[in-house]
Order: sequence, then C-alpha cells, then structure tokens
Amino acid sequence: MEHTREKRSKDWFKDLEIYQIYPKSFMDSNGDGIGDLPGIISKLDYLEKLGIDAIWLSPIYVSPCYDNGYDIADYDRIDPVFGTIEDLERLRDEAHGRGICLIMDLVVNHTSSFHEWFRESRKSRTGQYSDYYIWKDPKDGKEPNNWASCFGGSAWEYCEERGQYYLHMFAKEQPDLNWKSEGVRKSIFAMIRRWLDFGVDGFRVDAISYLDKGDFCDSTNTLNAEGYALDMDAISNRPGTHAIIKDICRILDEYDAFAVGEVNIKKLSDYRDYCSEDRKEFKMAIPFVPPIVEIGTWSPAKMKRDIVASYETMKDDGWWARFLSNHDKPRQVSLYGNDTTYRIDSAKMLAMLMQTLPGTPFIFQGEEIGMTDVHYPSIGCYNDIDTRNAYRTALLEGKSEEEALRIAAAISRDNARTPMQWKNEEGAGFTTGKPWLEINGNYRTINVESSLADDESILSFYRKLIEIRKKEPCLRRGSMEFHNTGDDCIFAFSRMGYGKEFLVLLNFSDSPRRYSLPAGNWMSVISNGKRSAQESMVLKPYEAFLLERR
Ligand code: NOJ
Repeated sequence: MEHTREKRSKDWFKDLEIYQIYPKSFMDSNGDGIGDLPGIISKLDYLEKLGIDAIWLSPIYVSPCYDNGYDIADYDRIDPVFGTIEDLERLRDEAHGRGICLIMDLVVNHTSSFHEWFRESRKSRTGQYSDYYIWKDPKDGKEPNNWASCFGGSAWEYCEERGQYYLHMFAKEQPDLNWKSEGVRKSIFAMIRRWLDFGVDGFRVDAISYLDKGDFCDSTNTLNAEGYALDMDAISNRPGTHAIIKDICRILDEYDAFAVGEVNIKKLSDYRDYCSEDRKEFKMAIPFVPPIVEIGTWSPAKMKRDIVASYETMKDDGWWARFLSNHDKPRQVSLYGNDTTYRIDSAKMLAMLMQTLPGTPFIFQGEEIGMTDVHYPSIGCYNDIDTRNAYRTALLEGKSEEEALRIAAAISRDNARTPMQWKNEEGAGFTTGKPWLEINGNYRTINVESSLADDESILSFYRKLIEIRKKEPCLRRGSMEFHNTGDDCIFAFSRMGYGKEFLVLLNFSDSPRRYSLPAGNWMSVISNGKRSAQESMVLKPYEAFLLERR
C-alpha cells in the first residue's frame, strides 16, 4: 500500500499503521542525551520492517520546554536540540522514499509565553498582537473567574504591564490563543499551509476541543486545594470550536492531508460531531482521558462497553483511532496488562486487540517491545510538569511525601517518556551521553536488539500481526460484532467482510477462564500461546487467538 501524496486512494487513512515518536526519547545521534531528527532517520529501516506507514512526531518546534515542546515559541523553526530544517527535509524524503508519511503535531490552543506574539501582546493593550491572547481585567482585585488550570493552580496569571490577567488552561508558560482574533486565525492558517507546502502529510491536532471558551462564568465544580475549579467539560466542544476546526480541515483537505484531533468526548454523539464525513472535520479522534480518571475507572468490562458504543456510533459514518498508549498515558502493559508475571503474554494480547479492531492502529514508541512504567525513587527524578504539580497538590492536601510520590508516580507522564530501549548496553543504545530522563532500569532485558533476535518476542508478534492486518481487507475495513461471553474478561468478537470471517478471542485477566467457540470450523491464524484453539477450552491468563472460519 502506498500512502504518499501522489498515490493516495479514497479513505487512505483507514489503512495506515501509525507509529508515534516522542522525539526527545527516541534516538540520540549526537550524545547530548536528547533524541533528535538524525536519530529518527537512523531508525527508519526499523520502522519500515515493523510495517509502519506513518510516523507522528510529537512537537519538534522551538520551545523552552516547560511542557516538553507542547509550548511552542516559533511554529516555523525546528528546535536546535532536535536538529535543523535540513534534517527534517531529509527525514521527510527518507520517510517518503520508504512509503512512510510524516505527521506533525499541531498545537494551536496555546503557544509558549516565549512566543514573539505573546511577548508583544503582554506589552500593551494596543498593537498588532494585543488581542492574540485571552486578556481580562481583574474582578474585585482577583482572577476574572475561578477556573483551575489542567496542571493545577489558577488558570489565570496576572501581568503587570497590561494590568490584566491572561488565561492558560495548561501551564502559565502556555497562554491560550484568542481564536476570536482575526490576526490569530490568519497567522495560524498561514502557518498550517507552510507546513503542508513543506510536504508534511498531516497533523495530530493537540487539545483542540477548547478553542471557544464560552462566557467565562465561574465553574460550579468542586474547588481544588488551592481554591480553583477544573471544568474542561464546560468549555469543550462548543459550536465556535467546531467552526474553527472546519476552517482548519478545509485547508488540510485541499492537500488531501490527514488530521486526527485530540478531543474531549463527553457523550457519544461528540464522536460523530468530530468524525462524520459530512461534518468535514477530523478523519478520526483521540479522546483525551486524564490518567487519574483512566486509572481509577478502567476495567475490561468498561473497555468492552466503550469499544462497542463507539463502534455502534460510527460504524456507518466515521472512523476510529485505535490506541492504548501515548506520551500522556501510563505504559499500556503496566496499566491494562500485567507488567510482571504476564508481561509478554499481556503485551501481545493488547497488541492483538489493537490490530484486529476496526480503526487505524497507533503504536506508541516502545510498546512494541513491551516497555513498562518506571518507578523512580524520588520526585527529583521526574521531569514532567504535571507529575511535579500532582506531587505538590498532594502535599498541599496533607498527604505524606511517600504518599504524594506514590500518587504522582502512578499518573506520571514520564512513564511513557523514558528513553527508548534499543540495546542491552550503557545508555540502552539510546544515547552515549547522559539521558535527559533516566532510562528504565529494565533495559538490560527489555530492548529492541534482543527482541529482534527472538522469533517469539513481543516485537516479532507485532510484526506478524501487522503483516496479517495488511493482507486482510476484512481486518482493516470489515464489520465487527461483539459476542456475549457472559464473562467481562473474555473478549470475543467477529470481523466480517471481503468474503471472510475472523474471530478474535482474548482473556483480559490473569486467571484462567472457560470459553466455548461458536459453531463452525475455526483455523488458528495467530495466537500468543503455543497451542491451537479448542471447541471448548480454558483460556490461560492473557491468552489471545485470531481464528479464521473455514
Ligand atoms: C495534550 C498533549 O498531549 C499534552 O502532552 C500537553 O501537555 C497538553 N495537550 C497541552 O498541550
């Protein structure tokens, strides 16, 4: 399959296998401890052999890195820690030469406070950039309302020069853009065109549900320890936001480019609003669920319900981004699987789920070798702003240091951001220098090199699954039906179409479970165990089968 611009077919994005790269942690080519573009180029062969059709790069633009690049200070320049624009051109060409698309992160809810627009905007209430951000007068000498930022504390920061507050739904170094400003719209749309002209194949669009903030009323949600209320739902998915997304996607459509939005799904119909064809917005959506909510509410039963509900909502119109991991989430084998006794089996089972559901699979770097959460001994080892804020908040709430560390570590985005484990050697083959974030100590056993040499490894399993998915239109485009197994932990679903029927069978637990196959003659296509499926059997912990009806 070829997906580069000249060779695109209708709905080409449905057949992609997307690999997310967190550039800082992927591969360091110059020994400064930070991953970079030449490092990514050196691993393109690896990605090609894995079967990847598109890479999504988390932000590589100039940034002071308060939020690891999601605070952009210059949309048009590459941060020197990652390399140069020539490096990016080379990456683009080398990727395209292998039939791999290049997808960039587009962060337009906010910029960095170091962006020239903000530096100018904060100077005075008049001037070219004065309305580029959301400025409000103090209310009774205090913040304009009680909103909390996602990272804790107030969402408002006072600026002496203007005598006003500016809004930041994330860190105070990430001021929110004012999308009511004509100047903002023009500047951002022009920037998008420049990148499309450069030759990127699309964007993953960051935190896009909150562009139109509504009327700035106080939230009635519970106040946090510092006296502010976090209420992202109140400012999500408003008509003004959808109108802007349509404008952005109209430009992308001119280039037949890809767009996946990171969105807030409050109710099922939100999926349709973002992804239905006639809405002319995103090709698919990545619902954002804060780790603390995900960890607290997740269960196999809930996952099953969510899969079925979103499938039913979009089966006739819309499409799904399939992912269990990204740079904001715990490692999938640690959260949904078992990262000790059943690490290999559960990592393979989760891969089977992602590669056999309808939708476009996203692989987050390292999941293909079963990388796990990290457990650092002290808060000082953590880099993520959100982790440090969670620690601070826990202390403010009266928790002990030990308890605060436990809470912060569990939700820490650094779990996903530890450097990629390439080899069993000092620096894990990621760097010859001091890594910017400590490498997970298990790199001695969990690494790409040893996985490549082992036909039974998680990595080999991913390769085989991807190969099967690419060969079988039924798995990519066919319909799906979930079977009632009477057991929340047993997932059984059929994929049908293109003259075939597949049955996917998963034991989502670390205990044995009984299951009887539906009537018929079933042939095993791939499984994570060493046996074939029986008519009636006890599935081993995390056992997974892909069967084909004969
Ligand atoms: C979502 C991104 O995925 C996350 O990493 C970032 O902190 C926020 N948006 C703010 O840009």
